[in-house]
Amino acid sequence: MTLLIKNIKELLQVRDTNVTIVKGEDMKVLPILKNAYLLIEHDTIVEFGPMEECLNIEADKTIDATGKVVLPTWCDSHTHIVYAGDRTQEFVDRINGLSYEDIANRGGGILNSAEQLQNTSEDELYNQASKRLTEVIKLGTGAIEIKSGYGLTVEAELKMLRVIKRLKHDFPIPVKPTLLAAHAIPKAYKDNKKAFIDIVVNELIPKAAEAHLAEYIDVFCEKGYFDLEDTQRILEAAKAHRLIPKIHVNQFNAFGGVALGVEYDALSVDHLEELNPEDISALQGSNTMPVALPSCSYFLSIPYTPGRAIIDAGLPLALATDYNPGSTPSGNMNFVVSSACIKMKLTPEEAINAATINGAYAMGLSNRYGSICRGKKANIIITKAIPGYYHLPYAFGNNLIETVIINGDVF
Ligand code: NIG
Ligand code: FE
Repeated sequence: MTLLIKNIKELLQVRDTNVTIVKGEDMKVLPILKNAYLLIEHDTIVEFGPMEECLNIEADKTIDATGKVVLPTWCDSHTHIVYAGDRTQEFVDRINGLSYEDIANRGGGILNSAEQLQNTSEDELYNQASKRLTEVIKLGTGAIEIKSGYGLTVEAELKMLRVIKRLKHDFPIPVKPTLLAAHAIPKAYKDNKKAFIDIVVNELIPKAAEAHLAEYIDVFCEKGYFDLEDTQRILEAAKAHRLIPKIHVNQFNAFGGVALGVEYDALSVDHLEELNPEDISALQGSNTMPVALPSCSYFLSIPYTPGRAIIDAGLPLALATDYNPGSTPSGNMNFVVSSACIKMKLTPEEAINAATINGAYAMGLSNRYGSICRGKKANIIITKAIPGYYHLPYAFGNNLIETVIINGDVF
């Protein structure tokens, strides 16, 4: 089965060599072919080039992309889409003056979601999450990471991870599972955090790893949640089970979580709304991807990650949604790309690099996803007819996507 997309106005992120990460100055460069074609065989990109070179190509199916932009699907490297219900009351409480912290301190927030999740069956959780996953694929996401973390008991965490495994099996896009082992201190352990971490280290991590339910380990390293010592204990235990760190750091406070992540060779450090020069230095020369989550900043009215400073320091940057019921009830990568441009002052080229190839890197997928490259998977967005790719971030909130192709098939 071959699919030819022809007369493409702009084909974005075209790479002759299999680049797997872009950093610093290179992030400003988004390779583009104008008036181009793209040829897909089964689930793989096999050829692309200018239309003049397409004359003799025959395919089983052809899509005419006159006036349209074509690009690789978004790679969303940070989500929590397996959750139960919602937190709409807390949303209204925040409008009326409470802070995210106030709500957590009165036993809401993550503890509220944990209670809802513990009382929801595995099938029902799967149904809710699969609706969200279907929606975000239609919005252009073609690879995703999903975290546990709303279980807060060994059984409920394993239940979440089994739901993620089922999504991975049933959906055509890559789904990367993360054990967010320490997301909040459960009510029952309010005065005994150490006992909870003992369970994480001695039971949860070994059970999740032995059942092959997770590739990554995550911790909410934050004041009032898990400090550096707690985080280090968990990363150490996870290392013994070959779980790679992708951790929540510097959302509200910067106190060394970035350097700790780098020390444990984290694949990514995520949030970074509060970032100091030592954090930037820690990232220099490392393999760790800094990940910004601008929809979270938007929803909670907290600072935006200083993406400009990160890129200007020569570092790479990835963008992700953080889709979750408390801080970001949105999985729209198009909005993420827009807000990175509008609020973080990334250029459209930088934002698109951050949301495709670098997002793929932050999931260990950038050798097969994240760019238009021969041999890579054919996960592709075709926009509506638009004046040019600047309209993707410019026309924020509008849906400019017409077709999403996953593994060579229209989704
Ligand atoms: O990434 N910060 C920690 N975890 C999530 C939000 C959790 C919640 O409020 O449910 C985040 O923002
Ligand atoms: Fe998160």
